Amino acid sequence: MKTIIANWKMNVGVRESVALARGTLLALRGRRVIPEVVICPPFVALSEVHKVIAHSAVQIGAQNVFWEDHGAFTGEISARMLTELGVSHVIIGHSERRENLCETDEMAKKKVAQALANQMNVILCVGETAQERTAGTERERVRTQLAHALSDVRLKSHDRLLIAYEPVWAIGTGQTPDVPDVLAMHEFIRSVLSDVLPNMDASQLRVLYGGSVDGTNSYQFLREKTIDGLLVGAASVKLNQFKEIIDATSEVLDAQKSV
Ligand code: 13P
Repeated sequence: MKTIIANWKMNVGVRESVALARGTLLALRGRRVIPEVVICPPFVALSEVHKVIAHSAVQIGAQNVFWEDHGAFTGEISARMLTELGVSHVIIGHSERRENLCETDEMAKKKVAQALANQMNVILCVGETAQERTAGTERERVRTQLAHALSDVRLKSHDRLLIAYEPVWAIGTGQTPDVPDVLAMHEFIRSVLSDVLPNMDASQLRVLYGGSVDGTNSYQFLREKTIDGLLVGAASVKLNQFKEIIDATSEVLDAQKSV
């Protein structure tokens, strides 16, 4: 299976989100095998987008969640509120939130716990900055992010957790790491996951790649067995690009099916 997650970020309003959701459904129509697709619109569009995808296989995710379930937390949104809207997934620890809102690994940890307690699926983002890569400390950084955010997690099912490896320097820059570098980092992530979640078979946990994925470069990542899918930003709000990514995914899945 391959999982394609569309992170629409703050790029679309309610009307555009509804149109994009409809277009995404059309892009999936008539395929032999369809990937798991999760679309993550801005909070304000969740409800309307949910109506569009309600009777389809497409799932809906939020781009953030707060770590308490209710109370005096102006502007925040709880996991319970999200599940009430039919939201099944949530992105936690995205580098744009770490950078712009000073989110820490401790906050990610509290959010992961809250999301899992509300039966949501967590998409935990990890990845190094350009400086960390230059300094050769990328593995240290990714280990710290994973170990901290998952330190109290007791997973019951491997479906509940997806890790997205998103090198910060690859997000929105048009630059991507070489595939062998992604594969090496994914292997490293799985080794950390087996330390941090000893009751889980790390080979069963999904590890995705994200950062400047588009219609032309998606296939090179998707064809790799240990890359379980993609977390797509800018190209997910351009329907022609997103359709090409879905095409590449279908090609890989069809090939796997006929083996
Ligand atoms: P881009 O695909 O725009 O580089 O963004 C990746 C990302 O941040 C997805 O969460």
